[in-house]
Amino acid sequence: MTDTSVGAPEYPDLEFAPDVMRAMGHAVVDRSVAHIAAINDQPARGDIDAAELCRALREGVPEAPTELEPLLDLLFERLISRSFTTTGPGYLAYIPGGGVYPAALADFIADVTNRYTGVWTAAPALVQLEANALEWLREWMQFPVGTAGLFTTGGSMATFNAILCARERYLGTELRQGTLYTSTQGHHCIAKAAKLAGIFHDRVRTIAVDGDFRMRVDALAAAIDEDRRRGLRPFLVASSAGTTNTGAVDPLDAIADVCAEQGLWHHVDGAYGAFFNLPDATRPILHGMSRGDSLTLDPHKGMFLPYGTGALLVRDGEALRQVHAATAGYLPPNQSEFYDPAQYGPELSRGFPGLRVWMAIKMYGTTGYRGALAEKRALAVWAAEQVAGIPGVVIDAAPQLSLFAFHLEGDGLTTLEARNDATERLVERVTARGRVMITGCTVDGRFLARICVLSFRTHRAHMEACVADVSEVAAAILSGA
Ligand SMILES: Cc1ncc(COP(=O)(O)O)c(C=O)c1O
Repeated sequence: MTDTSVGAPEYPDLEFAPDVMRAMGHAVVDRSVAHIAAINDQPARGDIDAAELCRALREGVPEAPTELEPLLDLLFERLISRSFTTTGPGYLAYIPGGGVYPAALADFIADVTNRYTGVWTAAPALVQLEANALEWLREWMQFPVGTAGLFTTGGSMATFNAILCARERYLGTELRQGTLYTSTQGHHCIAKAAKLAGIFHDRVRTIAVDGDFRMRVDALAAAIDEDRRRGLRPFLVASSAGTTNTGAVDPLDAIADVCAEQGLWHHVDGAYGAFFNLPDATRPILHGMSRGDSLTLDPHKGMFLPYGTGALLVRDGEALRQVHAATAGYLPPNQSEFYDPAQYGPELSRGFPGLRVWMAIKMYGTTGYRGALAEKRALAVWAAEQVAGIPGVVIDAAPQLSLFAFHLEGDGLTTLEARNDATERLVERVTARGRVMITGCTVDGRFLARICVLSFRTHRAHMEACVADVSEVAAAILSGA
């Protein structure tokens, strides 16, 4: 703030006085906690009719400083509500994220202290916490000692780094002949990540799925054979431990067998599902996941953290290090004993992404996570049973983890188009009621409604509201109302 008093230095001092900082911090915490306390009352989809508002928000770069209070007013009173209520208990759309409070505290500490975690030497003890957090993820996922990890901004970037490892191991500099495989239900970030890694779309195969939306292993083997006959070089299979559309878990063990026989890298996309390795009820469903060469995790989904935290585990940690190891004459020497983040990822300067993971695991413990994930799964199973009993509803995908999909059928709905339209209206009208937000997906021309339980704030009462709303809206649509 510019000090204009007599005798003040000519240049502004950007530091605030301690009592001012404290007051500003309290103001932010007060607003934030009030926001959380009222989250149940927010419509689940928020008010996203905001084009006019966006136009009005455009402004030139400000010359003069603004106080904190009006900025908080703008954010908390006018803008935050104009978005999906992603942290609310009724958010059953897409794959819900999180927003647990310990992560926010960790971010605040990380930002205020702003220590440099790109290289071990600059903040050895803090980097050790990040290394610990990665090791804990490894343990949870039952990957072997020797696995290396990396925190990324999300699942897409984790997958990108996995493809780089496989590419370097199997293709070297001869990228053009390399082919990779995922199912028709594989997340589109796989093709995007492949392209970033120099593997273009004409070398990405999408393998057919079975009636439960899982990759068909016979079709995978046939596609690999076909590519080999054509002189191409299959190098990676990206399987799904929980697809975004229907929550399908591919036959991970059988795919691991194919990869072992064929000498391919097996990458498992566990962005949605991998943390379900914690509860006893769901661990068997993910059997084979821990045989992967690499695994994408999204702590901003299954660990309920705020957006911006993905993670990658690579079984042969050296493979990840070899992809990224680099140094420069101005940097301290690379570490061999300790985890050195820039040697395992593409970034040099970076924030401290591990702190929010470390803090959340310390404050909740494995017990907290195992229990919360078991609850989400139980809620999805219960809700799917209830929804299956609603007249006109046909379940297309029962919950393998915590997501299920369904559509509407009825006497008047004789064509696919009519069923799609009715199901789409169901999603829209349920969401418009405000208590829950659900979304759909299109699979092979069929529109499916889907419900994904993964918000840490979703409990039984919210699922009861969801079932009641689906039931009433389905009845109304089928009766022509
Ligand atoms: C199954 C799956 N894989 C990958 C991704 C991509 O992850 P992110 O959005 O964190 O980049 C997502 C979701 O967004 C997902 O649901």
